[in-house]
Amino acid sequence: MTHFLDIHKTDPAALRRILDNAIAMKTARAGRPKGTPDDTRPLDGRMVALIFEKPSTRTRISFDVGVRQLGGQTMVLSGADMQLGHGETIADTARVLSRYVDLIMIRTFEEATLLEMAEYSDVPVINGLTNRTHPCQIMADVMTYEEHRGPIADRKVVWSGDGNNVFASFAHAAGQFGFDLTFTGPEPLDPEPAWFEFCAGRGRPITVDRDPVRAVAGADLVVTDTWVSMHDAQSARERRHNQLRPYQVTEALMAHAAPDALFMHCLPAHRDDEVTSAVMDGAHSVVFDEAENRLHAQKAIMRHCLGV
Ligand code: CP
Ligand code: NVA
Repeated sequence: MTHFLDIHKTDPAALRRILDNAIAMKTARAGRPKGTPDDTRPLDGRMVALIFEKPSTRTRISFDVGVRQLGGQTMVLSGADMQLGHGETIADTARVLSRYVDLIMIRTFEEATLLEMAEYSDVPVINGLTNRTHPCQIMADVMTYEEHRGPIADRKVVWSGDGNNVFASFAHAAGQFGFDLTFTGPEPLDPEPAWFEFCAGRGRPITVDRDPVRAVAGADLVVTDTWVSMHDAQSARERRHNQLRPYQVTEALMAHAAPDALFMHCLPAHRDDEVTSAVMDGAHSVVFDEAENRLHAQKAIMRHCLGV
């Protein structure tokens, strides 16, 4: 069973094949209407369940469109509308879904839910975001970087802000694709120690620098994300804003990066909180390319999982 649960749990050679395939599929359908199926329809006859226990725009739509372009069918399900949200166990849900569908994508809160779904499912499971990681996003981000600037290996990537789930998948990608990752943010919002250990084990120790200007010096890529994630308590909002404000990505901060540095944000962005509108809409920004590449990268991930 080939699940796609996290970037550090997928073999680097497989990750590279996924990106190569994503680029090939994107190139092959360039300029066609979005609803046109691809020339090959590798998901013909396949049914994909897309389960959301949290809101989503990009993940929901890019997976749905992607399955259709590959010739398959989807059902988009809200966790709250399923018995899953009313006491049925994850294990039983996984066993039942396996009788109906060929592939499951789930966005949920606890990572344990994803892992239990994968353990009891007879069909592949894809992680569409948990509180802890967001691997599909960072596959699209690596693809986006390489489309614009060539191989990401040995590049300097700087994360400014909350050490959250999106950062975690960047850390996994640093270890797997071999780039240098710097974290700049307030100590109370540091990433999990496990991600430091993973990167150090891959010979790519994460650098921590509390000074955003020093951290960003010479960066090839600057990345940030929301200051309050979907799983964070709203009561923590004001404290987080105060802690994170020094790490806002501004044009002044970007001026310390390499002249051709890119800026990324997984979106949705809170303009003029974690990033100014000037940076979002400026020359460094590739945020909408990232959003588009979710579609292409996830099509390749689904084909990887199904071996088609
Ligand atoms: N970046 C991302 O996953 O966006 P959505 O929450 O809209 O799916
Ligand atoms: N860190 C954000 C990412 C949203 C795509 C969250 O978990 O809410």
